[in-house]
Amino acid sequence: MSIADIFDSMDYGPAPESAAEALAWLVDQGDRFGHFIDGAFTAPGDGFESRNPATGEVLATLTQATQADVDAAVKAACKAQPRWEKLGGHGRAKVLYAIARLLQKHSRLFAVLEVLDNGKPIREARDIDVPLAQRHFYYHAGMAQLMESELPDAQALGVCGQIIPWNFPLLMLAWKVAPALAMGNTVVLKPAEYTSLTALLFADICQQAGVPKGVVNIVTGDGSVGEMIVASEVDKIAFTGSTEVGRRIREATAGSGKALTLELGGKSPYIVFDDADLDSAVEGLVDAIWFNQGQVCCAGSRLLVQEPVADLFYAKLRHRMDKLRMGSPLDKSIDVGTLVDPVQLQSVTEMVAANTAGHTHVADTPLPEQGCFYPPTLITGLNPADTLMQEEIFGPVLVATTFRTPAEAVELANNSRYGLAATVWSENVNLALDIAPKLAAGVVWVNGTNMMDAAAGFGGVRESGFGREGGWEGLAAYTKPKGTTKPLKEIEPFTGEGGPADGVDRTAKLYIGGKQARPDGGYSAPVYGKAGKLLGHASIANRKDLRNAVEAAHAAKGWSKTTGHLRAQILYYIAENLDARADEFAARLDAMQGGKTGAKEVAACVKRLFTYAAWADKYDGQVHGVPIRGVAIAMKEPVGVIGALCPAEAPLLGLISCMAPAIAMGNRVILSASEPFPLAATDFIQVLETSDVPAGVVNILTGPQSDIADPLARHMDVDAVWSFGASALSAVIEKGSATNLKRTWVNNGHARDWMGAAGEGHAFLQAATEVKNIWVPYGE
Ligand code: NAI
Repeated sequence: MSIADIFDSMDYGPAPESAAEALAWLVDQGDRFGHFIDGAFTAPGDGFESRNPATGEVLATLTQATQADVDAAVKAACKAQPRWEKLGGHGRAKVLYAIARLLQKHSRLFAVLEVLDNGKPIREARDIDVPLAQRHFYYHAGMAQLMESELPDAQALGVCGQIIPWNFPLLMLAWKVAPALAMGNTVVLKPAEYTSLTALLFADICQQAGVPKGVVNIVTGDGSVGEMIVASEVDKIAFTGSTEVGRRIREATAGSGKALTLELGGKSPYIVFDDADLDSAVEGLVDAIWFNQGQVCCAGSRLLVQEPVADLFYAKLRHRMDKLRMGSPLDKSIDVGTLVDPVQLQSVTEMVAANTAGHTHVADTPLPEQGCFYPPTLITGLNPADTLMQEEIFGPVLVATTFRTPAEAVELANNSRYGLAATVWSENVNLALDIAPKLAAGVVWVNGTNMMDAAAGFGGVRESGFGREGGWEGLAAYTKPKGTTKPLKEIEPFTGEGGPADGVDRTAKLYIGGKQARPDGGYSAPVYGKAGKLLGHASIANRKDLRNAVEAAHAAKGWSKTTGHLRAQILYYIAENLDARADEFAARLDAMQGGKTGAKEVAACVKRLFTYAAWADKYDGQVHGVPIRGVAIAMKEPVGVIGALCPAEAPLLGLISCMAPAIAMGNRVILSASEPFPLAATDFIQVLETSDVPAGVVNILTGPQSDIADPLARHMDVDAVWSFGASALSAVIEKGSATNLKRTWVNNGHARDWMGAAGEGHAFLQAATEVKNIWVPYGE
């Protein structure tokens, strides 16, 4: 294009960034890469080519890791871990700081290499991916520094296997590696097969930053290498990628004792109210769905516009789309680059081609002749159930529909199996902040979109996965409580024979929806004391009873909207009523367990109820200072419906230790009582009935926990399951949870001291809440 042409059209001229430095770095490495294990690069082996998706040219040859490579990486990480942890927070902070500095120093090289490998526009890599990656290391250098003073009870998990996708290769690496290292873990990381180059450049940086050998290990290869990492002797798996693979990893790690966080897909709603600044909302959409060609897990890919402004908004949007520039990702004046690989191009093309619903507008922008380019596309007039309204496209394709009222907007927004992010545009702060708490999402942006920062946790609910990355809450995913654990002792019920001494039949019922209910199956089992005396019968709950309990818990959703103050009062009231009958409960516990600890256990129950009554209105959120004109408000929300398999030991205290934190935080619970000693739980029903607990908030089942563990774990309307029962149930719960990727908290065969500090506190409160980060404009 000549200068005269430019003046003629007033169009942008090309402003290409040079690829010379990045290509020279590849040549320096011999264009062939091995893995980075134990502080050094291994010799390149059999592998695959990494191509530039904009041109198809081969950038480098990468090695497909073998089982031996993965084993060597895990071994190096294991060996390095204790010394890295012992280095202390300040020692690790210095190393993380050095990494941050070097990332900053080489930021242009990283940005260009990322663009060559991934096809994203250089403006994005330069201004977003790389600076945010640096920020993550700076922020977590600080977390390492503060760990000893601020998290005195936390220790590293050990070795973390980390599997990352191709949409933000360096940034996802930073999100995974920085917090892990800060907390004293070592890592084995696998970048995505399409985009491994910046991870390998990062390995080079680790050498320069003085990262001790074995602390960071990087192995390359496809999903089969990911599977090897998942199966290896690591202490945790952190995964970002598709929901399908996330689900497979959940199943594969079930019962292994490995910690797991999953950051998966989304179909995030982008809600535009009729009073929104429409031009800003259009600009927001450019960031929401055309940023990184829509290959963003939290992309605002589902547009919901209020009916009165829909036509105007669509017209503005089409006009803006037609102006988006596609071209060489290295050109600083383009808006949209290429998809990551021909495979992704094919997937997006096929999904859109299969759609016959609505009206499709394809941006009137010249499409480069070669490369994996896909044009910005808008499909309006879809119905909520249409495939493209439900399925993640992961490309520059926006789907849209309209709504009439705010309530309808919320209903449409939440009509998804995902729950990662949501965007709300309105000039009315009352409306925006009324909608934000109602959205099923881990992140909500008000009058902005796709904002991220190391200080604000990121992650989803529902099938978008679990765990948070960033912020204080992100550290929980890389730490565990200090101290050693003891194996759980399985307790068999006492046996005996004969009827009740006084001849009165006592068959305790289940407690469902605020009513005592006979078991669906019509069966009960005798409960004997230590000396073989019959104490009564307990109902045997089956999967139908469980389903009824879940339904009742769902119907009690008003509980989640009550105030902490009200919940505290009810917890105090339960404590008061239990205390009034303390002798009776103590006698029951002693009769069932054959000991003399009943009185102590009841006293501990009353104390624990007080503890969570205290917490009900004090487990507050935070406000994060983030580097934009705004703040991120981190609100603690209830998880929803929690099922808990209560411990066999401490029959009353275990039940209360699960119930109290859950309901204090606004959840509704289904409690499966101690299997060998169920009668304290059924007596407790009477306490609940006299304590103003609304129907359905607490439901109590008795009978074999193994009968209901699997249906509970698989139930699509249960949001979390805790298992403190028999060791074998941990695997059942974790495996079954893959259905809707509910949160799980299981004992993995470790005992918990229910009378002691481990029986209450932050771990329970954390498990009972989700953090939602709401980004709002604030200040100048
Ligand atoms: P993917 O989930 O297969 O790949 C992500 C990472 O997991 C890669 O490193 C891959 O090698 C690894 N992996 C694949 N199979 C594995 C297994 N069985 N065990 C362990 N690791 C495994 O994503 P893919 O196939 O590249 O993309 C397919 C779709 O997934 C996309 O179209 C998009 O819808 C979604 N996706 C979502 C992402 C997100 O950030 N939420 C990121 C990437 C993809």
